[in-house]
Amino acid sequence: VPSIEVVEADLQRSDHQAAVLELLNAYAMDSMGNGRPLPDDVRRRLIPGLRDHPTTLVLLAFDGQRPVGVAVCFQGFSTFAAKPLINIHDLAVLPNHRGRGIGKQLLEAVEQIGRTRGCCKLTLEVLENNHLARRLYAAVGFAQATYVPEAGGALFLAKTIQ
Ligand SMILES: CC(C)(COP(=O)(O)OP(=O)(O)OC[C@H]1O[C@@H](n2cnc3c(N)ncnc32)[C@H](O)[C@@H]1OP(=O)(O)O)[C@@H](O)C(=O)NCCC(=O)NCCS
Repeated sequence: VPSIEVVEADLQRSDHQAAVLELLNAYAMDSMGNGRPLPDDVRRRLIPGLRDHPTTLVLLAFDGQRPVGVAVCFQGFSTFAAKPLINIHDLAVLPNHRGRGIGKQLLEAVEQIGRTRGCCKLTLEVLENNHLARRLYAAVGFAQATYVPEAGGALFLAKTIQ
């Protein structure tokens, strides 16, 4: 997309902070997000929390001056490969700007950074019924994680403790 620029967010900059909050809030309101906006206390803690986290990587997509897409990522580590990896924790594009290749451009930018850092893989989770996102992920080369075929595909589990 010629008019779209993807940049690494500088979370010390107030304009980038506002962009990340706006985009994540829009994502939270999406039916594939949380279906409601981020609570005020989460909004207050989000930027300091991302800044304090040691491996945060946030990419922003700009259409001119307007922030229209975000990828929030964290670097992890693969023991079996003894190499870092990048987990894409959130990927979101504003509803009016979807279908223009911005999501794909953000994923390509993450991949580029991952290659530069010597990462062995990119990981992400996606909800089963998020067909649009799943199509995009498949198109750029993601598939359900498997290690030994007989053991089946990876499942993502969570236990809420707070
Ligand atoms: C998933 C998401 C990030 C994709 O962003 P995007 O910028 O629309 O993605 P792209 O344009 O690169 O690709 C989307 C695909 O849908 C197609 N598409 C066409 N019209 C579309 C529209 N109006 N809206 C969305 N996608 C459309 C695109 O053409 C593309 O398919 P193709 O590559 O086969 O042509 C975006 O839909 C989104 O923010 N969804 C809500 C949040 C979400 O679900 N995030 C993923 C969580 S795992």
